[in-house]
Amino acid sequence: MRLDIELFGATFQNPVLLSSGTCGFGRELADVLDLEVLGGFVTKSVTLEPRAGNPAPRVAEFGAGMLNSVGLANPGLEVVRREKLPWIRDNVRLPRVFVSVAGERVEEYQALVEGLNDADGFLGFELNLSCPNVSVVGGRPFALDPHAVRSVVEACRARTERPLLAKLAPNDPALESTVGIATDAGADGLTLVNTLPGVLLHGDGTPELGAGPGGMSGPALRPTGLLAVSRARRATRLPLVGVGGVSHFLDAVAYARAGASLVQVGTANFADPRAGARIVRDLGRWGTRRGVRSWSDLVAPAPGDHGVRPTTGTRTRMSERT
Ligand SMILES: Cc1cc2nc3c(=O)[nH]c(=O)nc-3n(C[C@H](O)[C@H](O)[C@H](O)COP(=O)(O)O)c2cc1C
Repeated sequence: MRLDIELFGATFQNPVLLSSGTCGFGRELADVLDLEVLGGFVTKSVTLEPRAGNPAPRVAEFGAGMLNSVGLANPGLEVVRREKLPWIRDNVRLPRVFVSVAGERVEEYQALVEGLNDADGFLGFELNLSCPNVSVVGGRPFALDPHAVRSVVEACRARTERPLLAKLAPNDPALESTVGIATDAGADGLTLVNTLPGVLLHGDGTPELGAGPGGMSGPALRPTGLLAVSRARRATRLPLVGVGGVSHFLDAVAYARAGASLVQVGTANFADPRAGARIVRDLGRWGTRRGVRSWSDLVAPAPGDHGVRPTTGTRTRMSERT
């Protein structure tokens, strides 16, 4: 099966990327994983200034995934420009890299895109819209405020011609409308989903994480991510990137069937830093065994698109999980 796919004016050698916050800036994983086998990766979210992040513990496991409140710990724009992106430029050849940017004001997103746009080493930007917007009372996450989504995407669009992905939230009751707004505002693709808010408590009622609540990820998030991708697929013709609970190649196939052209692997990297490479390998073997011509054939088309429907085998049995 051909795994390569053309998107955003670039060729992805396969559809498997590592998600933001789970692979650092690539270098952190380079000793344990051959990055060159990946379709790509998304950097840790970058803010204008360096951030130390939240008090420990920042991650906690539970039966179906994990909860994190890292607090966007990152070295900030200047170090990313001076050190992280040059390393990627010099050491990463085939994988397509997106730089994730995050802020608490529209102007911060815009300044980040402007400040990184002319650097080498990456294809495009992913806008992490799950941060609270401190410019409005209540500080709702950008992704849950349609006006804020429009403002951020438009502001960044005006500053770059690079591919721009808007990363949306799993708990958006008006997802179709948000998807429409991000599309109209000029995004090139949508990433669904970021983590879902939650809390884990000890027996005495104290939170397990230093910051209290956090974002839930891992297998428990997969049904929510798949639903979000399916809903988005009906609301836009933009390419979609599916993320949430991908740890096995059949999870990637499920996201394709829901309409995702690319997938991202997050939490699974913590259990096995080679998860992304394993998924690429198993996906290729499985498709070839089943006579699937290409990954693109598996991707559910947008409404009105005459996408090529899968040529062989229809339903994927759970028993095929290995
Ligand atoms: C420890 C940790 C840190 C994360 N940091 C970021 C981040 O900086 N920016 C972002 O957009 N998403 C971040 N995420 C969310 C992931 O990129 C992904 O959207 C989410 O975990 C769901 O995918 P998964 O179930 O495969 O982990 C983080 C997730 C984890 C577990």
